[in-house]
Amino acid sequence: MHKGTFYITTPIYYPSDKLHIGHAYCTVATDTLARYKRMCGYDVLFLTGTDEHGQKIEEKARAEGVSPKRFVDEIVEGKGGIRDLWKLMNISNDRFIRTTDDYHVSAIQKIFRKLYDKGDIYKGAYKGKYCTPCESFWTESQLAAGRCPDCGREVRDAEEEAYFFRLSSYAGRVQALLETPGFLEPVSRVNEMINNFIKPGLEDLCVSRTSFTWGIPVDFDPGHVVYVWIDALSNYITALGYDNDRYGDFGKYWPAVHMVGKEIVRFHAIIWPAVLMSLALPMPKKVYGHGWLLMDGGKMSKSKGNVVDPYLLSQRYGVDSLRYFLMREFPLGSDGSFSNEALINRINADLANDYGNLLSRTVAMVLKYFGGRLPAEREADPADSELVGMAGALRGLYARDMDGFMPQSALLAVFKVISRANKYIDETTPWVLARDTAKKPRLASVMYNLLETIRIATILLQPFTPESCARAFVQTGTPERAKSWDSAAVFGALPADVSVTRGETLFPRIDLEKELRYLETLCAPAEAEALPEAAPITIDEFAKVRLTVCKVLACETVKKSEKLLKFRLDDGSGTERRIFSGIANFYKPEALIGKTVVACTNLPPRRMMGEASDGMLLSAEKDGRLDLLMLDDAVPAGAIIC
Ligand code: MSP
Repeated sequence: MHKGTFYITTPIYYPSDKLHIGHAYCTVATDTLARYKRMCGYDVLFLTGTDEHGQKIEEKARAEGVSPKRFVDEIVEGKGGIRDLWKLMNISNDRFIRTTDDYHVSAIQKIFRKLYDKGDIYKGAYKGKYCTPCESFWTESQLAAGRCPDCGREVRDAEEEAYFFRLSSYAGRVQALLETPGFLEPVSRVNEMINNFIKPGLEDLCVSRTSFTWGIPVDFDPGHVVYVWIDALSNYITALGYDNDRYGDFGKYWPAVHMVGKEIVRFHAIIWPAVLMSLALPMPKKVYGHGWLLMDGGKMSKSKGNVVDPYLLSQRYGVDSLRYFLMREFPLGSDGSFSNEALINRINADLANDYGNLLSRTVAMVLKYFGGRLPAEREADPADSELVGMAGALRGLYARDMDGFMPQSALLAVFKVISRANKYIDETTPWVLARDTAKKPRLASVMYNLLETIRIATILLQPFTPESCARAFVQTGTPERAKSWDSAAVFGALPADVSVTRGETLFPRIDLEKELRYLETLCAPAEAEALPEAAPITIDEFAKVRLTVCKVLACETVKKSEKLLKFRLDDGSGTERRIFSGIANFYKPEALIGKTVVACTNLPPRRMMGEASDGMLLSAEKDGRLDLLMLDDAVPAGAIIC
């Protein structure tokens, strides 16, 4: 019997670039809560997806010379793309919505028309600052020193015909909703919303654009596309089958709990409820606005030795370690500073030393003293009561924190018990008990209490580190019935004659210094390879450098290398030239095929990843930005730069 339904969502991510650790944070938090609710017996629907329309994506695709759909397909479905990342990170989403999915597109058109028919959408004029070369509208506050923030050129006042949603007429009802306890959390965000947005007065919202085309067309007014937030927010209901027949469980799962980052709380706690009010649908159950992971004093950056690629971090340190770190290090509602150092320290301290060590010591002792299987005889002692009491009460404390969206506190509670168990080993000195056969029943009790504590902690850690918990259950011989949520409230659910199995170390210790040095080489090319002051050279010395124009025949990523791309080039000689270049973080290989590039072709060949690299491609680099030197395609292969 399940306890009811629980629908939880992440924001849908912009597939304009590779996702970073901040995006992973949001998804892992949602996944942890979804897994927790499933474990408690709820019928959970967990939705994530991608927000694929809009001007930014249109422009990025143009810059790469591909259609917007091809561009997003690659980022969402391609190798190492968003879906792959969530698979790698063990994200248990039940559905994945793309706003380019047909069922969503047609549902959005119906929703837009419903709002229009109701009189909540009307036609007006969008006034703003217009940059003609960029064909972009900007608001006053988006301008950079009064100029276009993209190209720095002058902007002019302009108007564009647009549809507007009567957000203003919902201000009172939205305010009442914001003030409803539990709707928006943490509570600090409620005042933020009321003071910053409701009190100054809600303005009607522009919900269509004509200045770009990559969006869902307004079917009754060609030329207009639906403004991306109406398209995006409605994903939460179209993914359940609202106004479409792809799914049929809107009635079953709606309303949702929306997990979102703090900067988009406004859209979820003000605009989205107003749209739902207009559609006469129930309000979301909750909007939870989590904090940001900050890097380098504010923004995510690849410099200063911080690797922020969740793909790379998961592969190097293990998915569970990364998931655990994200949930343990920062309180969900507040901002936190991400650093690789903090990540490694946390893995070492909690997972390797506390939990992993408790498990491996206990299993090793049961093997050593009892051949792996505990005998039935027991001898309790008052020294057991604190640990047994703490482990028995743990589920209650944990549930209170998890239900309150405080996964960090829940983990703190679990690790308090784990530390207590490590201390219990020191207090009971099993190695001394083992010397005296008369003390075997006492030793068996100590081992049983340790295995029970590990079992309870492992059940509760499952939403955070699912794979490692499954492995811990194997090592501790935990039967299926003793892995359940119900059994986590019972100290003594393991069979008395439980038998253990030796297994691999769950969380190996990491050498911090060595690891940081390694990460530094990965992510700070500009610093690691800083150029010495350029010494003057003669024209003859310069002439020794042979710079040849080449056409890219093929370009591909290199297995086991994060940085390298492998190029096959036509250098005009009639023989294909092969060059490896460390620019994989900056380009997608497909985007470079056919380009006209420049290579230094009289360097001695070097072996890279087991193959010869015959030359060096030229790039321009500044402040972490890298551009491969490309010439006009009219320049022929084999032309010499002089
Ligand atoms: N597409 C919109 C959301 C539409 S939901 C109907 C969007 N996309 S996003 O890709 O820019 O951001 C998605 C989520 O990632 C947001 O919740 C955002 O807060 C979160 N994060 C992005 N960077 C982050 C950090 N550095 N730290 C924590 N979360 C961050 O907004």
